[in-house]
Amino acid sequence: MATSILITGGAGFIGSHLTRLFVTKYPDYNIVNLDKLTYAGNLENLKDVEDSPNYTFVKGDITDLQLLKELFETHRFTGILHCAAESHVDRSITDPLSFVTTNVVGTASLLQTAKECWKNDLEGKLFYHISTDEVYGSLGETGYFTEETPYDPRSPYSASKASSDHLARAFFHTYHLPVKISNCSNNYGPFHFPEKLIPLCIHNIINNKPLPIYGKGENIRDWLYVEDHVRAIDLIYHEGKIGETYNIGGHNEWTNIDLVKELCRQMDTKLGREAGESEKQITYVKDRAGHDLRYAIDASKLKDELGWLPSLQFEEGISKTIDWYLNNTEWLNHVTSGNYQHYYEQQYHKR
Ligand code: NAD
Ligand code: DAU
Repeated sequence: MATSILITGGAGFIGSHLTRLFVTKYPDYNIVNLDKLTYAGNLENLKDVEDSPNYTFVKGDITDLQLLKELFETHRFTGILHCAAESHVDRSITDPLSFVTTNVVGTASLLQTAKECWKNDLEGKLFYHISTDEVYGSLGETGYFTEETPYDPRSPYSASKASSDHLARAFFHTYHLPVKISNCSNNYGPFHFPEKLIPLCIHNIINNKPLPIYGKGENIRDWLYVEDHVRAIDLIYHEGKIGETYNIGGHNEWTNIDLVKELCRQMDTKLGREAGESEKQITYVKDRAGHDLRYAIDASKLKDELGWLPSLQFEEGISKTIDWYLNNTEWLNHVTSGNYQHYYEQQYHKR
């Protein structure tokens, strides 16, 4: 049976790295990228692979059952890498229903289509659901999220992702659909949309604009270079156990304020500015509603079972990331024109 994989959300941040990896590493696989091209989806992210003979792009919505059925019939998928989602916590606070539609109904639509189209033969099939550590809730100063940590989502975004995880597990238990799930910590790297903390601050440092820190800047995130995340997904896709969940994380915790100071430090050097210049733009703003204090992943199951480890130290990964943004100003200018300005105005000038 020829391998044919549907990647959803392949024009987004993580999806584009995942698509690039699978298209280039597995030239014998047929790869179909289904993406609605919301504000977060951008075909410029995939310019280097768009003409590959094993790659097809389809513009469409994962809630469109008719389209999903047609794609399954045409491409005879053997696997699904489900990445498409509404992904930004702040947007979920202002518009929770679009998160329920895409993340819950969209995931249910994909699961249902896979169940119906694969019903006669589940051998060699796989539905891989890509999820987040935010489903586990918020940690205090100590401890880690393991695969056994009870779910406790606290934002509309994380609640919608938790629902999608539950649905994926329900289809595994009820219909024996071959499902794998991974829950990853915060990613960073090239092609990250500048609504998220790291690319937003890089963009604002370049343009000498304020660097908005929510609350006191004491919240902690566990950052992982995006290429390490998609390498883990590749490993789990091919070698992980059906029905299992794997946590992915970098053991790399930073308070937001220390992280932004590190960005300022590295960028002052790279931009030839005086040490301390960019830090002057740090501005404390009103906190995010329901702001989770700390995320930290225990990824020992993935290390022990499949031998995965992050490849990059954070300072090196951040340096590579800053260099990418400095060398890709055209990409940055495109994604920050138009609707981005409106979003920025609403999100930051009303705080
Ligand atoms: P992103 O917002 O950059 O990209 C999402 C992509 O999905 C976009 O290309 C968008 O056009 C597409 N999309 C949205 N709604 C769609 C729909 N209804 N139909 C088809 N396509 C649609 O997101 P990301 O940061 O790359 O995250 C990808 C996945 O990884 C998400 O499921 C997210 O929950 C998960 N995740 C993200 C992180 C992170 O730090 N970014 C960490 C862990 C897990
Ligand atoms: O943990 C994984 C999750 O990481 C993913 O599931 C989400 O899709 C992804 O968006 C990310 O969520 P966060 O909310 O942690 O990421 P964000 O970059 O939005 O914020 C990181 C931290 O920085 C968080 O504590 C909020 C804070 N922050 C964020 C922004 C945008 C600020 O202080 N100022 C800001 O302007």
